[in-house]
Amino acid sequence: MTDLAQPATRPADPRFSSGPCKKHPGFTLDSLAPAPLGRSHRAAIGKSRLREAIERTKTLLGVPDDYRIGIVPASDTGAYEMAMWTMLGARPVTMLAWESFGKGWVTDAVKQLDLDATVLEAPYGALPDLTAIDWASDVGFTWNGTTSGVAVPNGDWIPADREGLTLCDATSAAFAMELPWDKLDVTTFSWQKVLGGEGAHGVLILSPRAVERLESYTPPRPLPKIFRLTKGGKLIEGIFEGATINTPSMMCVEDYLRALDWAEGVTLPGLIDRAHRSASAIWEFCESRDWIANLAEDPATRSTTSVCLKLVGAPEGTAKRMAKRLEAEGVALDIASYRDAPEGLRIWCGATVDPEDVAALMPWVEWAYQSELATA
Ligand SMILES: Cc1ncc(COP(=O)(O)O)c(C=O)c1O
Repeated sequence: MTDLAQPATRPADPRFSSGPCKKHPGFTLDSLAPAPLGRSHRAAIGKSRLREAIERTKTLLGVPDDYRIGIVPASDTGAYEMAMWTMLGARPVTMLAWESFGKGWVTDAVKQLDLDATVLEAPYGALPDLTAIDWASDVGFTWNGTTSGVAVPNGDWIPADREGLTLCDATSAAFAMELPWDKLDVTTFSWQKVLGGEGAHGVLILSPRAVERLESYTPPRPLPKIFRLTKGGKLIEGIFEGATINTPSMMCVEDYLRALDWAEGVTLPGLIDRAHRSASAIWEFCESRDWIANLAEDPATRSTTSVCLKLVGAPEGTAKRMAKRLEAEGVALDIASYRDAPEGLRIWCGATVDPEDVAALMPWVEWAYQSELATA
């Protein structure tokens, strides 16, 4: 133990995990009581809950009317892989990756789908060269690299007149960053992130061009039932109206509706602002210290949700021990960097986290660092 003075204030909630993320303020298990449990999800009540989840998502995120939204199995991974497996192969493919999740989609494209993809990669902390993309190809990427804390700053790099489709994994961006729908043909996310919902279900958002691809292209590979979005060459519209492919958890759906209740009160700009205020507290902290820095090299690409930090000049293992120390003190849970990422800290700043809690955490990060130095 150390005798360094501890900061006077503790975060009111120590949950800064990057997924599943903290539940929304005011969440209680009792609020899930209206869930239609023990009823068929195809009964009117179940289907109406699913349809409500789709419609409210569309409104809150400002998704255009002619886009489809479906609730699909297997969380964000299910939604993204469903898009890859059903749509890719029709034209050349470019995959962008700058951290673990993007690299996972590269592996899918190259090793599993056996596509002759062009892969544009960048090390942790950077973005690949976005000017080198051939827009005649389909382009797969992650909006926010959750494990490096590097996000694309906007959609200006995506041309409006692209020939290929864009496939965007927005799981740690949706509800916390502006998403330019006209630039996104396939967008996926999971409830467990910015709104603090549950894992298990993914959300798949399709532009009219993505639907056209589904209806005009038959991929040369077998598709399991949970990936099938068309029948007889036509989109299965029911999936986008609440008739899910297989059985969803109505408890998770209810939980998502409660998260939407909260989020609608905050509004989308408010949600984005909460993440920005939390991230700003960390950025300011780092700016006045030389021993800790944002992993994102270019400030324009700094994530406002999964803020990733590196220690400068500290012995190996210091950040891991700091995270353990903070966990033992009960002030921050799950803030060690992701297992494949460079050693450091990753502090979730998505909308459900209170900016005041992030501000209260930072003196503790300093305390943990000083304590490590004192015991080294
Ligand atoms: C960018 C990104 N993609 C995909 C995933 C996988 O999400 P899920 O576990 O909900 O499938 C995550 C989870 O952290 C993520 O951050």
